[in-house]
Formats: sequence, structure tokens, C-alpha cells
Amino acid sequence: MTEITLPRPDDWHLHLRDGAMLKGILPESTHHFGRAIVMPNLVPPVVTAEDAAAYRARIMAALPAGARFTPLMTLYLTETTDPADLRAAAESGLVSAVKLYPAGATTNSASGVRDFDKVRGVLEVMAEIGLPLCVHGEVVSPEVDIFDREAVFIETVLDPIRRATPGLRVVMEHITTKDGVDYARSQDETLGATITTHHLIINRNHILVGGIKPHYYCLPVAKREHHRLALREAATSGEARFFLGTDSAPHIDALKEHACGCAGCFTATNTMQLLAHVFEEDGKLANLEAFASRNGPAFYRLPVNSDTLTLIKTGTPAQWPAKIETGAGPVTVFDPGFPVYWHVK
Ligand code: DOR
Ligand code: ZN
Repeated sequence: MTEITLPRPDDWHLHLRDGAMLKGILPESTHHFGRAIVMPNLVPPVVTAEDAAAYRARIMAALPAGARFTPLMTLYLTETTDPADLRAAAESGLVSAVKLYPAGATTNSASGVRDFDKVRGVLEVMAEIGLPLCVHGEVVSPEVDIFDREAVFIETVLDPIRRATPGLRVVMEHITTKDGVDYARSQDETLGATITTHHLIINRNHILVGGIKPHYYCLPVAKREHHRLALREAATSGEARFFLGTDSAPHIDALKEHACGCAGCFTATNTMQLLAHVFEEDGKLANLEAFASRNGPAFYRLPVNSDTLTLIKTGTPAQWPAKIETGAGPVTVFDPGFPVYWHVK
């Protein structure tokens, strides 16, 4: 097959930032995607319904002319989140999910949750109204090795939360391990899992062998090869519980190429071309539609997009800019390290 047409894909985990960065990188997502779950980890974070409405208005104002793109807003869960505000935000349709960052786990997560008992009331409201909880699944205890953070989180935090709050709908965000794949598969349909583009392509060697590669550093950090292979098998399986969340997370080059470099890979520009390559390589091109266009809307109880995106394979490698020049500074586009012959029509 050299051409494939999908219902327009969506991105179920995206960082759009704010200000000049938002303006500069938003077209990279609106070119290919119909909707995105927009992460709330701004400084300060998007915590209340009022914050989410204001951020949504700034995104709408930054849309390129003619773009048809719907930002799906999220609230950042804190230990003082007001369940009544959250309920009203969900019931009005303003908010599509709530994001749980364990405090200190990643970029701008300082306001996240330390004591999970303090958010029990909010989680019970969410279970009642069916509002999904998007979870950054890493423990942050210094004694846990960074490569084990996800597996330990599943056992010591995620599973207990889900047992304590029956019916709570949860998305395991950007899973990076076979442990994540296996746990998602062992649970009922209240649990979904997103997988990024870059975690299908790189393992931890790509970050560290032959010199440190800051543009491959993200959180959760890429793991061993057998984990990457488990993610590939899950993403390409077509199973309803697995769907695309790019976690495309722009930082300017000066902050990536730095003594204390920021976490994040920027994949909005070339995700669809890369996914076509990956799915074809695994003989699963027919399941790209499930992963990128159908499973996410089904989990979020939204219709599949009615328009389409066509990918074409040619004999010429696809080209994309090495960097996106934003008003905030240049952002390096994820480099898979191999030629890709799939183009978006
Ligand atoms: O790599 C990451 N970057 N992981 C996250 O969880 C946050 C994100 C960001 O906001 O830069
Ligand atoms: Zn993220």
C-alpha cells in the first residue's frame, strides 16, 4: 500500500504552552490533527474552570486563519482543587479531563499531588460524572531508580487509587514500559493508555550512546529496547485501550542544550509521517486508523472526526524543518535518525 486515508487523527496528550511559543508551535498541530487534549502545566498551572476558559480563549486567538482545530481543555489537579468548580467545568463541556502530576515528577509539576488522600473527594466526583483522569505515572521518591519509576507507580499508586475509586476512568499517559502495557491489558475498559511517537522509535541508548542527545530526553525517559518493542506491539495492535498521545513538548533549544536540560520531545510536526513508517514496518498499517483516529474518541466518548487525512509513500524522503522558529526561540523537531518516505498529502 502506498496511500492510506484515515479519519482526521487527534492528539490525546499535547503541550501547547502559551504566548509566543503557543503562537509559533500551534500550526504544527493544526496542520494534521482535529483535536488535542491540552496539558495544563503552564506557569502558573491551569487549575480552575476560569483558568481553563481563559487559556482556551488564548489558544483560539492563536489559531492560524482557517484552521479547524478543537482544543480539549484539562484541569491540573492540586490538593486544593474544588470539586464543585471541577464538576461545573465538566458539565458545561469546558473541560474534558483532569491531569494528575505527582509533585516534582516533571516540567512544572511543583503544584501536583503529594498526598493522594487529599484528592479522594475530587476523584469520587470524577468517577460519578465519568470525567477521565489523565495520569503522569511516575513515582518521585529519590530511592527509586528513574528507569523504575513507572513500574513502581503502577503498583504503589495507580492500582490503589483505582481500587479505592471504583468506576474512575483513567488514562495512563505516555506509557514507556512493558509493565505499563501489561497493566493496561489486565484491566477493564475504564482504563486507557496513550503512547507517544518517540517512545515507539527510541530506547535509552539513543539518549546516551555516543554522546548525550538532549533532544531525545523526555519524561518518562525512554527505557530498554524490550520495553520499546512492547510499546510497538501494543500501539500497532489496534486494541481499543491504546491510542495516540504525542506528548509533543516544545522547549527552546537554549533550554534543551543546557547543563540542566528540559524534558520533552517535539513531534507535532512529523508524528503522522513517523507513525505511518512505524506501522508499515511492523506490517500493521491497517491499524494506524484505530490508534490515531478511532480509539481516542471512543475512550473520550466523542465522535470520530468526519474529515480525513491522507498519507502517501513515495520514493523521496519526507522533509520537515529541523527547527521551528517561534517568537520565543527555535524548537528542534524530533529526528528519528532514519529516512521516512511517508508524506502527508
Ligand atoms: O518530557 C516531558 N515534557 N514530559 C512531561 O511530562 C512534561 C513535558 C513538558 O511539559 O515539557
Ligand atoms: Zn506531557
